[in-house]
Amino acid sequence: MELIICRTPEEAAQAAAQFVIDRVNAKPGIILGLPTGGTPLGMYAELAKAVCEKRVDMSKITTFNLDEYCGLPVSDPQSYYTFMNTNFYVPCGLSATQTNIPNGEAADPDAEALAYDNAIRAAGGLDLQVLGIGHNGHIGFNEPGTSPDSRTHAVWLTEQTRQANARFFAGLADVPTRAISMGIGTILEAREILLLANGADKADTLATALRDPVTPDNPASFLQRHPNVTIIADLKAAARL
Ligand code: F6R
Repeated sequence: MELIICRTPEEAAQAAAQFVIDRVNAKPGIILGLPTGGTPLGMYAELAKAVCEKRVDMSKITTFNLDEYCGLPVSDPQSYYTFMNTNFYVPCGLSATQTNIPNGEAADPDAEALAYDNAIRAAGGLDLQVLGIGHNGHIGFNEPGTSPDSRTHAVWLTEQTRQANARFFAGLADVPTRAISMGIGTILEAREILLLANGADKADTLATALRDPVTPDNPASFLQRHPNVTIIADLKAAARL
C-alpha cells in the first residue's frame, strides 16, 4: 500500500484530484468507481476546476457509484444521484450515458443490485475505485460483518452510519434504513483503489484497518488483500498510522 499524507484536507483534495487526473489522462476511457459523502467533496471541486482549465478531458470516462439510498427519489436533495449530479456530473460536463448509480427506487432492490454488478462486469470492470471510510470501517455501505466475497447487494444501514449521515438530513428519522451498495468483492475486483480519509475522527478506524489483522469487524481492513491501494489522508486522519 502506498500512503500519501497531506497537511490539510485541502491539500488532500488536490492530491486526490491529481491522482484521478493522471489516471484519466493515461486512459481516457477509464471506468471509475466513485464515492459520495463529505470526504470526496474537495476532490470533486478540484476535478471540476481541472475540466474547466482543460487539464483533463472527462468526455470518454464511465463512472459507477458505490451506493445509493433505497426509497429516495433521484430528485431528493439527499439522494446520491443528486449529490453526484451537483458535485461532479454537471460541473464536469458528463452525459447521462457516462454515469451509473444504483436505482434506489427499484421495486426489487436485490434484482437491481444484481443488474448493477453485471453492468460493472460488462463495462470491463473498474479501473480505479475511489473510497471513503466510515467510522465503523465501512467501505461503500458494507457494514461490519459483511463478507469479503459480497457482490452488489441491498443492505440495512447500522444505527452508527445513520447517525453519522443524519447531518445531511433534517434529522435521524429522515435517514433511510436501506441502501444498495457495491459488495466488498465487487470493490476488491477494481484494478486500483484510492482510499481517502480526513479528520481526527477517522484516525483510529484508519489505523485499525491498515495496521491490525484483517477482520470483517473493520471492512476496510480487506483492502490489505488488494495489491494496488493508495491512501491519501490528512495529518489528523493519519495520526495513528
Ligand atoms: C459513500 C460511501 C461511504 C462513505 C463513508 C465516509 O458513497 O460509500 O462509505 O465513503 O461513509 O463518509 P464521509 O466521507 O461523509 O465521512
